[in-house]
Amino acid sequence: MEKREHFSSRLGFILISAGCAIGLGNVWRFPYITGKYGGAAFVLIYLLFLVILGLPIMVMEFSVGRASQKSAARSFHVLEPAGTKWHITGYLAIAGNYLLMMFYTTVGGWMLYYVYKMARGEFVGQTPDQVGATFGGMLGDPKAMTIWMLIMVFICFGICSLGLQKGVERITKVMMSFLLIILVILCIRSVTLEGAAEGIRFYLIPDFGKMIENGLGEAVYAAMGQAFFTLSLGIGAMAIFGSYISKEHRLLGESVNICLLDTLIALMAGLVIFPACFAFGVDPGEGPGLVFITLPNIFNKMAGGRLFGTLFFIFMSFAAMSTIIAVFENIISFSIDLGNWSRKKAVIVNGILIIVLSMPCVLGFNVLSNIAPLGAGSTIQDLEDFIVSNNLLPLGSLLYLLFCTSKRGWGWKNFIAEADAGQGPKFPQWARFYISYILPLIVVFILIMGYWQKFFA
Ligand code: ALA
Repeated sequence: MEKREHFSSRLGFILISAGCAIGLGNVWRFPYITGKYGGAAFVLIYLLFLVILGLPIMVMEFSVGRASQKSAARSFHVLEPAGTKWHITGYLAIAGNYLLMMFYTTVGGWMLYYVYKMARGEFVGQTPDQVGATFGGMLGDPKAMTIWMLIMVFICFGICSLGLQKGVERITKVMMSFLLIILVILCIRSVTLEGAAEGIRFYLIPDFGKMIENGLGEAVYAAMGQAFFTLSLGIGAMAIFGSYISKEHRLLGESVNICLLDTLIALMAGLVIFPACFAFGVDPGEGPGLVFITLPNIFNKMAGGRLFGTLFFIFMSFAAMSTIIAVFENIISFSIDLGNWSRKKAVIVNGILIIVLSMPCVLGFNVLSNIAPLGAGSTIQDLEDFIVSNNLLPLGSLLYLLFCTSKRGWGWKNFIAEADAGQGPKFPQWARFYISYILPLIVVFILIMGYWQKFFA
C-alpha cells in the first residue's frame, strides 16, 4: 500500500479546504438566493448559521479525519466502538461525494463554455433575447455539454493524478490566489460603476420588513441549507483534509480561518453582482439564470465588458474547479482506503466512472428532458441536487454530530481531545449542551422542512 501523503504546509491545508468550500455555492447560488430573499437581512441570517451550525460541524469532520488518518470511507471503522454500525455513515458520505459530482461537473463545464464564448466576443452586440437563447441553446445541445463536462473532468482528475502535494496542493494554491486577485479586480470595477450605490445599499443594509413580507420561514430555511452547502459539510468532503495534517494546530482556529475565507469570497461575489445589476437596471432576484443570462447582458453594456466578462467566468471556473478537485481527491482516496488501490488506478477507474455518472445530468436537459423527477419542469439535475443538498448533507452532518457527542459513538471526550490537540483557540466546553442537544434538533428541523417544502408546500 502507498504511504499516506500529507500536505507540505499549513497554508496548503487551509487553501485546499477553503477551495473545497468555495465553489458554485458561493459564486452562483449565494448571490441569487440573496437576491431572491431580499439582500442584507438574508446575509445576516446566513452568517449566523455559519457560526452556530457550520463551524462546529466542520471542527467535528476535521477531528474525525485527523484522528483516524483515513477518508470518510474508513474513518468510522477506525474510531467506532467495537460492534457498532457507525461506519454506515461512511457509505452515505461516499454516495454524497459521487452524487455531488454527478451534477457539479456539468455546471463546471458551463462555466468553461462561457469563458470560451466571452473570450471570443460572441456576446458582443447581442440583444438580451439572443443572450438568453445562447444559454438555452447550450442546454439543448448534448454534444457541447458533454464535451465541456469532459474537459472539466479531465483537467481536475489530471491535477489529482499528480499527487496530493505536487498536484492538488500546488495547483489549488495557485488557482485560489488567482481567484482572489480576479475577484478584487471585478469588485473594484463593479462598485465604481455609475449607479452602483443602490446595489451596495440593497446588499449591505438589512431590511427585515421586506424579508418578512417575502416569507421569513423560507428565508431562514434557505440560509440554513446554504450554510451546509457552502461548507460542503456532511459528506466527509472536509474530513479527508483533516487526515492530511499533523496535530500542531487546534482545529477550531483552522475551521474559523476556512469559514472566514469562504464567507469573504461569497460576500465579494455579491459585491460584484449586485452593484452591476442595479447600475444596469436588472432584477437581482432573477434566480439560477442570474449568472448565465443576466450577467452577459450587463457585460455587454459595460465598457471593457468582454475583458471583464471573460475574467468573471474564469473566476467562476476556478471556484468550481477548486471544489471538484477537492471532491475528486476524496473519491480517489476512498478507493485507496477501501481497495488498497494505487493513486493511478484510482484516478483512471474513477475518471471513467464519474464521466458515466455525469451523463444523466447532461442528458437531462435535452435528450432526457421528458424525465421530470420532481414535477413539471424539473430536471435530473434538480433531483441530484435535492438528494445531496436536502438529504445527504444534513443527514451526514447529523451523524457526524451524534458520533462526536454520543457515548455510544466516538464520544465527546475523544472528540475534544482531538480538536484541542496543538496550538490555538480551544473548542469551548460551554458549548457542549448546545452542540449535544440543540444543534441536532436544528439539523432535524432542516431535514423535515426540506421535505415539506419540496412535496407539500
Ligand atoms: N461547498 C461547495 C460549494 O459551495 C459545494 O459549491
